[in-house]
Amino acid sequence: MVENHSSKPSGWQLYGGKIVLVTGGAGFIGSELVRQLEAAGSKVRVLDNFATGTRTNLASTAAELVEGDVRDNATLQRVFEGVECVFHLACVGVRRSIHAPREAHEVNALGTLNVLQAALASGVTRFVHVSSSEVYGPALRPLIAEDHPCLPTTPYGASKLAGEAYARAWNITYGLPVTVVRPFNAFGPRCHHEGDSGEVIPKFLLRAMAGMPAVIFGDGQQTRDFTDVADIARGILQAAECPHALGGTINLGSGRETSILDLARLAGVPQVIYCDPRLGDLRRLLCDSSHAQRLFGFRPEITMEQGLDRLRQWYRQEGIPPEVLLRQEVIYNWRPNASTAEPSLAR
Ligand SMILES: NC(=O)c1ccc[n+]([C@@H]2O[C@H](COP(=O)([O-])OP(=O)(O)OC[C@H]3O[C@@H](n4cnc5c(N)ncnc54)[C@H](O)[C@@H]3O)[C@@H](O)[C@H]2O)c1
Repeated sequence: MVENHSSKPSGWQLYGGKIVLVTGGAGFIGSELVRQLEAAGSKVRVLDNFATGTRTNLASTAAELVEGDVRDNATLQRVFEGVECVFHLACVGVRRSIHAPREAHEVNALGTLNVLQAALASGVTRFVHVSSSEVYGPALRPLIAEDHPCLPTTPYGASKLAGEAYARAWNITYGLPVTVVRPFNAFGPRCHHEGDSGEVIPKFLLRAMAGMPAVIFGDGQQTRDFTDVADIARGILQAAECPHALGGTINLGSGRETSILDLARLAGVPQVIYCDPRLGDLRRLLCDSSHAQRLFGFRPEITMEQGLDRLRQWYRQEGIPPEVLLRQEVIYNWRPNASTAEPSLAR
């Protein structure tokens, strides 16, 4: 059994029995959030266009599913009926943004504006905007706190920054009760290994399980701050129920810096293959989440090793052989016309 970390956040009481809307709720983080909301007694409605999310991700939940798009204002008007609180996660991801920048803008920036307008019109009492650490761009100092300059390098980072700027503006100008959270890299059950959504941890772990080498872009010394999705979702819920988080911007991460090379070792791949670095790839990302810790006691409970174990167990439980899942892997998945071809073993 995969250990259940979807515990009820302490003091959760604001939305018990009320309708909570999760945009992008059929996705990786969204579906974990839905599970934790339900465990806390909320009635959940999900708005998702299933671009990268799936109905299967919400299997065994009681969430009301609305198939629709945050670019469609008529759908938004309908979906907000009776909603008390909204978690806005619907987005186009970083690698897709590189070959579809206009779509990233339309969903991540304009779509956010649409959701804010609909939320304001419906009178929600809480709007949690899920942004991303990608808004910071290259680290100018080792630990990234919320006052670090935001100089994003990818269309995704730029469009996420526009989205959160709108969210803050709707708070200040129109009084919408907004909190912005900036998760760093999340991993865990239901994360993406496939296509242009594919993330480094599931790709490495599946390759390790299949006895295949990991593909590293650049020297492997680039670092990320990885946190288990159960901890990230708990942090998002804690931010929603913390009165002092209103109007604020809050990092969520582990505070542990892991290089891609170390990750390959932790995942257990038999070998690594080095390829040219990715354009726009950030060298370091390390989260200072002391603000979240001070505001609502946020502290990740799952170590990197435990999280990797949890994900490994989840893949085994799902029962699809890693070799089969890896057929959906796209190695150069940030490029237009991304190729599935194996890079050569030569450096
Ligand atoms: N995964 C991470 O490591 C990470 C880190 C930081 C921030 N985030 C943020 O968390 C949120 C969720 O990310 P995720 O990793 O779960 O990605 P995901 O792709 O699994 O989830 C995004 C969801 O949004 C849906 N969606 C996309 N376009 C839509 C549209 N136009 N209308 C309605 N729904 C739409 C997708 O179908 C999917 O279910 C995003 O806002 C992302 O920026 C993720």
